[in-house]
Amino acid sequence: MQRVEQEIARLIKEIDYDEVTELFNTLSGGKRLRAKLILKIAPDHEKAPLLAAIVELIHGASLLHDDVIDDAMTRRGVRSVNASEGSKVAVMLGDILYSKAFSELVSFPRDVAEIVASSVTALSKGEMMDVKMAEKFNTDETAYLDMLYLKTATLIEAAAAASALLSEKDASAYALYGRNLGLSFQIIDDILDITASEEVLGKPAMNDFVEGKCTLPYIYLYKALSEDDKKRLVTLHAKEIKPQETLWIQEKMKEHKTIEKSFELAQKLSNEAKEIMSKESELVAILETMIKRTF
Ligand code: FPP
Ligand code: MG
Repeated sequence: MQRVEQEIARLIKEIDYDEVTELFNTLSGGKRLRAKLILKIAPDHEKAPLLAAIVELIHGASLLHDDVIDDAMTRRGVRSVNASEGSKVAVMLGDILYSKAFSELVSFPRDVAEIVASSVTALSKGEMMDVKMAEKFNTDETAYLDMLYLKTATLIEAAAAASALLSEKDASAYALYGRNLGLSFQIIDDILDITASEEVLGKPAMNDFVEGKCTLPYIYLYKALSEDDKKRLVTLHAKEIKPQETLWIQEKMKEHKTIEKSFELAQKLSNEAKEIMSKESELVAILETMIKRTF
């Protein structure tokens, strides 16, 4: 991973703008999940650390923009760039990281570059769907999962497939692994938004619903509730909620086991990915850690 951090630092230095370097250094790198995957899938390829750095810059840029879109004040436990520097700076820093990543991507074989580039269109589409879906109470599970796939899984899928292509492995098997890892990762994220505390999350708990996002536990809850309770849930959607209303939602979720149901789907997707990668013990270990994570 040190080689990836070195590559990231080199690319940032090449941007040749002190403001950018300073600002970038204040960001937390996060789990570097996508980079780890690339190094594990193409450990011997000399350009794997560069590919990993590119994907992490794209991911970082997407989060900078996402925090502006979501009006998020914190990211990974620290103040978001839009909160500390304003939205204009956050958008432009995102643009700089994103375009620098693409300038580097053109040095890769066409099929590798194409996979990564088209995944960025997909994740941008997914983000737009997320925003649109949050405008009203969504109860469509398929539409929700399609959006999750685009918003979160496509870049992980692309990272896995592109690194498989680099090391002449079966790209479609690795793509499926990445897709399922991404989907189950996001479902766990949605669960943690409800079950974890603010200190653990580094952002307010139960924030998704306040932001208008009807994640899987809410979709399952809506389906299980009586007509009157359905109406009550819909009136709470997309606004600040009182502690007693939060408690009501949590109790109803417990009663109808909607967290467990959501977790089962994450587990099913993760098991499918484990089966495909049964010979790759390190990739299986990533899935296991991800499914058990509490933050
Ligand atoms: C986080 O979702 C957001 C994403 C994973 C994707 C965001 C994508 C864009 C803004 C498209 C633009 C892309 C580029 C490269 C400039 P979330 O809000 O559900 O998760 P969070 O809780 O981590 O904020
Ligand atoms: Mg967000």
